[in-house]
Amino acid sequence: MYDGGKIITGLIIGVILLTFPIWYNLGAAPPEPDIKLPVKTKKCVAPKDYMREKHMQVLDLWRDSVVRTAKRIYVADDGRTFNMSLQNTCMSAECHAKKSEFCDQCHTYTDVDPYCWDCHIPPKEKK
Ligand code: HEC
Ligand code: HEC
Repeated sequence: MYDGGKIITGLIIGVILLTFPIWYNLGAAPPEPDIKLPVKTKKCVAPKDYMREKHMQVLDLWRDSVVRTAKRIYVADDGRTFNMSLQNTCMSAECHAKKSEFCDQCHTYTDVDPYCWDCHIPPKEKK
């Protein structure tokens, strides 16, 4: 009555079809991030490895400090001081002036899309 072979073949085809979006996407991974670091400015507000891992928390702390306690000056571990501002400090002309060549490179790759730009204005970029 039952044709075991056909059932198994059917199941295998079914599994392949169902998982198609997964392995199809594996082949089409987005290009590796190609981040452009600032040219003139050599040091970020904190060491590179730290920023790579913790920049979201740093930004959160900056925001809370500015918005909740009106404290705008950040003192780095090495004593340098910065205005705690996403737009005016991080994205300044001397630092990460092109969101598309920095933030977006990693975020597109890792598929995170911070909502910050709903309100904060990224620098204008010439095409
Ligand atoms: C709903 C609008 C809105 C969104 C979304 C938003 N912010 Fe803000 N943010 C503000 C406003 C308004 C201020 C206050 C500006 C001031 O007083 O200088 C601010 C201040 C800040 C500050 C300190 C001041 C400055 O000029 O940067 C930081 C840092 C900051 N936000 C980071 C972020 C980050 C990171 C995100 C995304 C995770 C984010 N914000 C999302 C509205 C927003
Ligand atoms: C070297 C890669 C890299 C660069 C460059 C980078 N990010 Fe990120 N960012 C990440 C990764 C990875 C995450 C997700 C971390 C997680 O989900 O734990 C992230 C998350 C964030 C988040 C939290 C978003 C959320 O929804 O939780 C904010 C805010 C953020 N990045 C802001 C920025 C800004 C602003 C820039 C540019 C000035 C930037 N990042 C540049 C890799 C990067």
